[in-house]
Amino acid sequence: MSALVEVKDMCKVYNPGENEVRALDHVNVTINENEFVAIIGHSGSGKSTLMNMLGCLDVPTSGTYLLHDQDVSRMSDDDLSDIRNREIGFIFQGFNLIQNLTALENVELPLIYRGVGKRERTELSRNALTRVGLEKRMSHKPSEMSGGQQQRVAIARAIAQAPPVILADEPTGNLDSGSTKEIMGILKDLHKEGRTVIIITHDNDIAAQAERIIRIKDGQIEADYVQETEIYEE
Ligand SMILES: Nc1ncnc2c1ncn2[C@@H]1O[C@H](COP(=O)(O)OP(=O)(O)O)[C@@H](O)[C@H]1O
Ligand SMILES: [Mg+2]
Repeated sequence: MSALVEVKDMCKVYNPGENEVRALDHVNVTINENEFVAIIGHSGSGKSTLMNMLGCLDVPTSGTYLLHDQDVSRMSDDDLSDIRNREIGFIFQGFNLIQNLTALENVELPLIYRGVGKRERTELSRNALTRVGLEKRMSHKPSEMSGGQQQRVAIARAIAQAPPVILADEPTGNLDSGSTKEIMGILKDLHKEGRTVIIITHDNDIAAQAERIIRIKDGQIEADYVQETEIYEE
């Protein structure tokens, strides 16, 4: 297994000076390809800050971040957005779908920005929606779908171009227990197919379904362990 994510001695300080907040405090973490990791911690512990770093949405104050052996920590905004597009599929708590576009158009939209031609992007988007069980809902708008279905559209959007890393921030935070199970099932399947899945959550039941747990507290890694339990029972 090769290291996909290599974070070394990473610090993130907001508002340097008198009111500074040390949101990440000398974090070291390595995540290999095809791991299924939950990052957990209480509110304010630094989860979203770490997600922003791992997702190349922001750069650290100090330390380094290698993603696929590329040093992300010193990249310009343009290079960050390139690497983000290539490497990472984001899934957010609030789905972040565009309300007046259909499911298919929502999945296609980032592919348009990436310059993927019409025929290819339609094919990629249809395949991704089929992959999450929405082949019959492609022309529905978000308001015509349940929360679980909307999150499945968001997953389809995240995986359409097969990014190596799936990064999900509280992906089931707005969902009922039935939809939560459905979404976790899809994430587990993606992991089984070889993707690297990183879920950020404050929910211990969600975290318990991952292979490995990284617990963060006050910007520091408090625990990092592989779970004993079989995650694919049934
Ligand atoms: N943009 C920001 N400016 C200043 N402080 C911030 C900013 N973002 C987060 N923080 C602070 O950094 C700490 C970690 O926040 P965050 O990463 O959002 O934690 P979590 O996602 O675990 O709730 C908190 O003390 C928070 O108030
Ligand atoms: Mg947060």
